[in-house]
Amino acid sequence: MADIEKILGKGSFTREDIISLLSVNGEERTLLFRRSAETKEKYIGKKLWFRGLIEFSNICSKDCLYCGIRKGNSNLLRYNLDDEEIITTARFAYDNSYGSVALQSGELESPIVTARIENLLHRIKDLSDGKLGITLSVGEQEPEVYRRWFEAGAHRYLLRIEATNESLYSKIHPDNSKHLFKRRLSCLKVLQDIGYQTGTGVMIGLPFQTLDDLAGDLLFFRDFNIDMCGMGPYIEHADTPLIKYAGELMPLQERFDLTLKMIAVLRIMMKDINIVAATALQAIDPIGREKAVMIGANIIMPNITPGQYRKNYKLYDNKPCTDDSAEDCQNCLEARVSLTDTEIVYGEWGDSKHYDRRRKGMDLG
Ligand code: 5AD
Ligand code: FES
Repeated sequence: MADIEKILGKGSFTREDIISLLSVNGEERTLLFRRSAETKEKYIGKKLWFRGLIEFSNICSKDCLYCGIRKGNSNLLRYNLDDEEIITTARFAYDNSYGSVALQSGELESPIVTARIENLLHRIKDLSDGKLGITLSVGEQEPEVYRRWFEAGAHRYLLRIEATNESLYSKIHPDNSKHLFKRRLSCLKVLQDIGYQTGTGVMIGLPFQTLDDLAGDLLFFRDFNIDMCGMGPYIEHADTPLIKYAGELMPLQERFDLTLKMIAVLRIMMKDINIVAATALQAIDPIGREKAVMIGANIIMPNITPGQYRKNYKLYDNKPCTDDSAEDCQNCLEARVSLTDTEIVYGEWGDSKHYDRRRKGMDLG
């Protein structure tokens, strides 16, 4: 116990410290979670912001070995919402006082996709008088494309690095020019340089992954100076190549617990960034996202994708909320969040305070 208290008292953690923190159990685990909850309360408040998540297309040109919507999976119906459906969904978010929407899809790069998203960004800004914040999560793109979208009104971008150890990255992606670790890294750098609030993250409990890898992930987030983070447990999907390792994974409950520990340690390391309570947590524990909010996360992305499409955006098995409507998700989340002594902040963007501080070159007071 003394050791953990000593580590938690430090201003900065080493790789070994982080591995110790990720290994805690019993009272030490309670202490870690208490410290991260206090950190959230001090720097963010007992608050939570929504990003209405619109999964507007599951068409993907990539073949990540873990992902249910990979190009090589022919076992699902591909869809692409039309522009009017996307605009109606964004209006739902605005009418319900969600501060922001997040547009997410499979990865496609083409002039048509670029122009389409640019046009949608203008339309969403127009329909909300510029008031709806917009996060994009549509994968790797050329710098010029990222720039155009930034100018059209997207101000946050999520691109999970998935694994920061290049050798692990190469085990969970095909070995070809469409899946280069270096490109993913350089995309993140470009996003940050353009001025996006830049978010990344990893999956936890992947085959071959070690605690040392996870500690490296947290150090990467700190050194890269990210503004936002989304980390969730890896959950196998029957129609993906990685399913062959299903027997070697840690039990789901352990992946869940390790994800909570990653969130807690990151909150203590990066006090004022935005941390998402990932939907995948809820695939393991019905109140998984709320547990993450209690120990440090401050963002939830309620799914507002029109109901009939949801079942086809199955990144992993047992994905929650695929049978619900946007209204169901809001009511359900409000009821559950009310149990956590956390205020849902409506009508505000909920930008990462870290971003402002980073841009102004300020230290935490
Ligand atoms: N389990 C958990 N998360 C997954 N993702 C993709 N496939 C899985 C899976 N099998 C995550 C990736 C991606 C995000 C949109 O979903 O981290 O970046
Ligand atoms: Fe979708 Fe509960 S969050 S039904």
